[in-house]
Amino acid sequence: MSIAEIHFPTMLPSDPLRRRLLVGAGRLARRVFPEQAERAARGELPGELGLWQRVLLAPTVDDAERSGDLAALAPLHRWLWSSGQAHAFHEEARERFSRWWRADRHAAIVGPLREALEAGRFSTLCEVGTGNGLVLTALAAQLPFLRRLVGLDLSEAQMARNRAEAKDPRLSFEVADAAVWLPAHAEPGWAVLTNAGVFEYFAQAQVAALFEGLAARSPSCVALIEPLAEGFDPERAVASRPYNAEKSFSHPYVAMLQSAGFRVRWRAEQRFDGVRWLLVVATAS
Ligand SMILES: C[S@@+](CC[C@H](N)C(=O)[O-])C[C@H]1O[C@@H](n2cnc3c(N)ncnc32)[C@H](O)[C@@H]1O
Repeated sequence: MSIAEIHFPTMLPSDPLRRRLLVGAGRLARRVFPEQAERAARGELPGELGLWQRVLLAPTVDDAERSGDLAALAPLHRWLWSSGQAHAFHEEARERFSRWWRADRHAAIVGPLREALEAGRFSTLCEVGTGNGLVLTALAAQLPFLRRLVGLDLSEAQMARNRAEAKDPRLSFEVADAAVWLPAHAEPGWAVLTNAGVFEYFAQAQVAALFEGLAARSPSCVALIEPLAEGFDPERAVASRPYNAEKSFSHPYVAMLQSAGFRVRWRAEQRFDGVRWLLVVATAS
């Protein structure tokens, strides 16, 4: 399956009439089968989405968009990234690694990250949403002073493959929801990284709680590479905004890091492959 063929549960038809029909059918279905609709909205869905699931989900997605209550979409993003479709995505994303992880693109973060971690107070780098693990593996070679590099992801199949391929004994991979795993495991001396869009699938309150929890375990570092909607100001915006057909979120990362107690040490923006990227390295001492 190619990335273009992924069935995002958060997508609605772009044609307004088809969208109205689907949402209308969904509202009716929700009245007749309320428990099924609630389970679907919680992300309790079969491995593949059929028309019935799309009907059940349509009002949840429509309501979230209209009300701006994006937290309602987070369970649907979680379902997608735990599914077999996610494994297919990560396999295909191997091809883009060498195009995106270049010194003039996302790998521009390596120098500022090394500078932030080098002083000897950091032991561990945890990559949330590590996918195929290629970035974490590259960073293991580039940051030889780290004792441990942990990749977290929702895809069991992909983490099994990453474990089988890992050669550096400092690397490990965990199947976990970072919103649950990090508060239970992060310690002073940890840096948390996301690459190529991961926090974009977390509700704003979850990201805020993670930043606050990490700031309380200083020294800590957050390094992120996340997409942003055009015109969205990550320093002054208050609320997150959904920004594409899959309705992932632009969060006000800079404002959120600062209000959690982080100092933004380095920040850059890039535009390539049709995406506006924000790159940030921030530390709490
Ligand atoms: C767009 S992919 C990026 C994957 C990888 N960083 C890359 O560059 O190829 C988003 C990743 O975020 C992960 N993810 C989403 N929500 C998560 C959560 N709650 N906990 C851990 N990982 C999550 C997904 O499993 C997926 O691997």
